[in-house]
Amino acid sequence: MGTVFSQKQVSLKPYNTLSVDVTAEYFAYISSADQLGDIVKSGGIDIESLFVLGRGSNTLLTKNYPGLVLLNSIKGIKVINEDENSVTLEIGSGEDWPSFVEYAVSKGWSGLENLAYIPGTVGAAPVQNIGAYGQAFEDIFVDLDAVDLTSGEIIRFTKEESKLGYRTSAFKTDLKDKYFIVVVRVRLSKDPHFDTSYHSRFPNESLSEWLKKNGKPPYTPADVAHAVTGLRKFKLPDPKEVGTCGSFFVNPFVTVDKFHELEKEVNELQHYPVTKMEYDRIDWHNTGQDKIVKIPAGRLLDELGWKGKWIGNVGTHDKQALCVITNKKASGQEVLDYTNKMRESVQKAYGIDLVSEVRIV
Ligand code: EPU
Repeated sequence: MGTVFSQKQVSLKPYNTLSVDVTAEYFAYISSADQLGDIVKSGGIDIESLFVLGRGSNTLLTKNYPGLVLLNSIKGIKVINEDENSVTLEIGSGEDWPSFVEYAVSKGWSGLENLAYIPGTVGAAPVQNIGAYGQAFEDIFVDLDAVDLTSGEIIRFTKEESKLGYRTSAFKTDLKDKYFIVVVRVRLSKDPHFDTSYHSRFPNESLSEWLKKNGKPPYTPADVAHAVTGLRKFKLPDPKEVGTCGSFFVNPFVTVDKFHELEKEVNELQHYPVTKMEYDRIDWHNTGQDKIVKIPAGRLLDELGWKGKWIGNVGTHDKQALCVITNKKASGQEVLDYTNKMRESVQKAYGIDLVSEVRIV
């Protein structure tokens, strides 16, 4: 065990947005790829007892961690290529995602404006393939470098090798816990084409309406990012006030037939293609092989009375039933019990198994 660089028995409460108070047996900051590579090569890491933490905004810690926690603090933003139409950036994986978006839109670069104000690190963006308001990280992703936690070597993963899917990637599945992402490269556009088509039906909200409230066209990437931030602040809880980890479950995929069945029972149920967040755009006559759609778990949970419902220290946000929150006093086990109840109720009412989006440790 790398006693030279790590601290012992560290509380992880400041390092997870649910503010769950568990301890890590060992804890260390990683501030560069070389530092990490050297530690691995010197035999300082037992890969079996390790986990990597970014901002802890998508992690539920259920008990004291018996191994080593590495906190990602690898920083830096560099332009590595630029032409008339685009710019390619290399970003340290420990950079704060929302700050990075602010920086990019302030330069007039586009492609991530709809992903404004999503908590987390740049390194977590490809792992989760973060997405919101019709945009996803995969749209701008070029490639990334990661340290192999067995050999200490730095390996480049192309976009294809990273296998990004809906809120998932190879780093959440096949390659889970085997690599530490150190830098991420993205390509942004200097010629913006905005997608402001997002609207939710119940309650009625639209991105283009928010945008209009704040100004007139032509809009800049910063205008769109600020409208998205406004919408998110309106609809999602304030992490300063409550413990939260965003959407707790991914939105389920169902067959078209199942959707039509559910539509009769659930008010204002929207549907969208399995890849992108575009509501109600499917032409049933043209679906062909595309017989599966994605439906909002939040709508199902809301219909079942979960919105704003508290049990002890855990509840859901009063504007978004998919967003589990705490009074910052809840234990990880309490959060897990609460979300298991949500899962059971959706299973019982609609025969759907909700799958957690949040990493449960
Ligand atoms: N809805 C309700 N009641 C609720 C919650 C939602 O009726 O309590 C309805 C909405 O009115 C809307 C539909 O359900 O008609 C979908 O809701 P929303 O537009 O809020 O989106 P979502 O599917 O719940 C997804 C992402 C969010 C992302 C938003 C906006 C997932 C799991 N969640 O939420 O991402 O910000 O779309 O694009 O894909 C996250 O991943 O942590 C996250 C917050």
